[in-house]
Amino acid sequence: MAFERVGVVGLGTMGAGIAEVFARAGLRVIGVEADAEALARGRGHLERSTGKAVDKGRLEPGQRDEILGRVTLTTSREDLRDVDLVVEAIPEILDYKIALFKDLDRICEPATVLATNSSSLSVTAIAAATGRPGQVVGMHFFNPAPVMKLVEVVGTVVSAPGVVADVAALAGRLGKTPVAVGDRAGFVVNRLLLPYLNQAAVLMELGVAGRDDIDAAMKLGVGLPMGPFTLLDLIGLDTAYEVMGVLFDETRDRRHAPAPLLRELVTAGLLGRKSGRGFYGDSPQEEPAKSRLGTFGVVGGGGDGPTEGPRAAGGGGGGLAERLRAAGFRESEDPDVVLRLADRPVIEHAVRLPDPARMVGVHLVGDQVAELASTVLTSEEAANAARDLVKIAGLTPVPCKDRAGFVVDALLFPYLNDAVRMHDSGYASIDDIDAAMRLGCGYPAGPFEMLESLGLAKVRDGLRALYAEYREPAFAPAPLLDQLVTAGVSRFPRP
Ligand SMILES: NC(=O)c1ccc[n+]([C@@H]2O[C@H](COP(=O)([O-])OP(=O)(O)OC[C@H]3O[C@@H](n4cnc5c(N)ncnc54)[C@H](O)[C@@H]3O)[C@@H](O)[C@H]2O)c1
Repeated sequence: MAFERVGVVGLGTMGAGIAEVFARAGLRVIGVEADAEALARGRGHLERSTGKAVDKGRLEPGQRDEILGRVTLTTSREDLRDVDLVVEAIPEILDYKIALFKDLDRICEPATVLATNSSSLSVTAIAAATGRPGQVVGMHFFNPAPVMKLVEVVGTVVSAPGVVADVAALAGRLGKTPVAVGDRAGFVVNRLLLPYLNQAAVLMELGVAGRDDIDAAMKLGVGLPMGPFTLLDLIGLDTAYEVMGVLFDETRDRRHAPAPLLRELVTAGLLGRKSGRGFYGDSPQEEPAKSRLGTFGVVGGGGDGPTEGPRAAGGGGGGLAERLRAAGFRESEDPDVVLRLADRPVIEHAVRLPDPARMVGVHLVGDQVAELASTVLTSEEAANAARDLVKIAGLTPVPCKDRAGFVVDALLFPYLNDAVRMHDSGYASIDDIDAAMRLGCGYPAGPFEMLESLGLAKVRDGLRALYAEYREPAFAPAPLLDQLVTAGVSRFPRP
């Protein structure tokens, strides 16, 4: 099927970008908004986005005029009567979408394909509300739509033959990489991504670590393009909240219950970038007091324990003790602060010291980040000294509580585990899941690539520790992961 004229309904965070993508590929676009005010905002999104591309030299001014010239903006859905395809990008609320699709079904020709950009809702439920269920699919773009390469094309049990392939071919024509998937809440990417973002909000609420520190840990430690709170602000907290609710309704997994903090921010109208304030946009996190630096000791992991795994790209030239010595610090047998390279609860080590108040757990993540775990006995002075020491050693400190997995592993490992379970359930292949997370989120590697470079046993053991601490069933290692480790296999079998 050839798609030449397309409609986009809803020109907010996603719809405006989707309209731009179609227009850039030479298609004629009719953009529909709810009212004149929202239409003006949508026009503003389009003009700003293409204007920025001109400023950056990625688009000639004449090309920009051509792109904008292909887009007709309207507040009347009736103008969609002649299009070949409609992509809907209105808020993530099933009743709104069903009402819209019923209306589109009345307005559009019977052959027109109706697609939803929904992140999580049942495409089947939307399809069943129309008189053309075979012609309804998911066409799920990623934020920002003009940049991100992935499009999840969602078919249902009633999709007409060829429709998914036609829409996937269109995505290819737009310069995107389509991944065809079945209809499950969250599809591939959001099913894996959103629980991680939600868990970051939970960790913050539990006081395990602060906003900026969690963001820094995931960005600099794992190499993600941005931390979870920056990403939540970009996605829109209302959208994230709705998606979590849909995931929870399908899975009844407690981890999918939206973090209470998310609900509070949404209710307060703090939606992230689109409203000017969300997790960010207020005062920056307070800087703690400077410490009086003195002597240090490093224990555990041989003292010079190497930075770990694939996140240690570059190596960093040795361990923490070496870095501190190079920075001119003195090691002592009676140190002001004892840095314990931690592999299990720091408190278990601390209680063996004559002065447990001086012990801070250190977990090096990659060659840039040091998680610094304070126990219930750690003094503020020691915590501050540890923070200042690792800064001087050229690392970004991430102060946190002494909890299994600290910040990074507590957020990363369950996500990796979820990916294994998703694959093992038969929903998507390893290669599709890896490609989806790389292209949909801009991750440097997909979850299976990350698992294999971290080491399957390390992740399995980390999950066991998380499970032992939180007793969260979903943290128990996926049976496939556990069995591969038991069998001594270091790679996932691929067909
Ligand atoms: N935000 C993301 O990162 C992201 C990524 C992928 C998919 N999505 C999905 O895209 C959809 C839209 O999300 P968003 O973040 O762009 O939301 P948004 O709130 O930024 O934009 C929604 C737009 O729809 C308009 N609208 C509402 N009712 C309408 C109607 N009846 N007719 C026409 N326009 C109407 C609103 O005025 C608004 O401009 C959701 O289904 C969401 O799950 C969002």
